Amino acid sequence: MNKKLIYLPIDIDVEWPDEAVLIDWFHKHKLKDTNYWEYESNRHTWAMTSTCKEPKDWHRYDKDIWNNRREEGENHGVIIHPGLRDIFPSLANCLEQLPFKQLTVSGMLYQMGEIPPHRDAHDTRNPTEPRRYTIYLTNPKHNTFYFSRDESGSEKIYPNLITPCFAFNNTDVYHGAEATNRPKIILTMAGILDNTAHEQLLEKSLKKYKDYALYV
Ligand SMILES: [Fe+2]
Repeated sequence: MNKKLIYLPIDIDVEWPDEAVLIDWFHKHKLKDTNYWEYESNRHTWAMTSTCKEPKDWHRYDKDIWNNRREEGENHGVIIHPGLRDIFPSLANCLEQLPFKQLTVSGMLYQMGEIPPHRDAHDTRNPTEPRRYTIYLTNPKHNTFYFSRDESGSEKIYPNLITPCFAFNNTDVYHGAEATNRPKIILTMAGILDNTAHEQLLEKSLKKYKDYALYV
């Protein structure tokens, strides 16, 4: 049976942010609403980092943007949260370089409780795996993120976070995060991938980071 690539560090220019500055930014810009599923299920608190069309309010949960994240719509490119580029230029630049035709929304996720093994919403366009781009923002020494072959999480596979940006497989494995009592923030994104650019980036990244890639 073919081995499945489940984790790959991405060869893209991005630096680890200063953790204290990051946490401060997060708390100032997190969503004021608490009536979204991720929050209500004690998984993550959100802060929007970019959208593809001007949101009504950067600090409010926008159901319309989130529910239609993989549908083609009004798309003005990557609109960065006002002020974010000044503080985290490398992050803003990275978001613009990622291989999306439409990067509908991206946001920081501050972990709340334990995240049980799960798979994220299915991408009906079926881009090549690994397809879920993520930027790990807080200190990777305290990583809580893992993969699991099944929903039980009995065997946890931990990635080596050599670089902040990575892609993971949302089809062949589950992923979750252990409970933590220190701040842990990742940046996640959803939209429509440009599959050609995506595959080229995977190929380039695999050449550079083959020793860190994980398979099941
Ligand atoms: Fe997830």
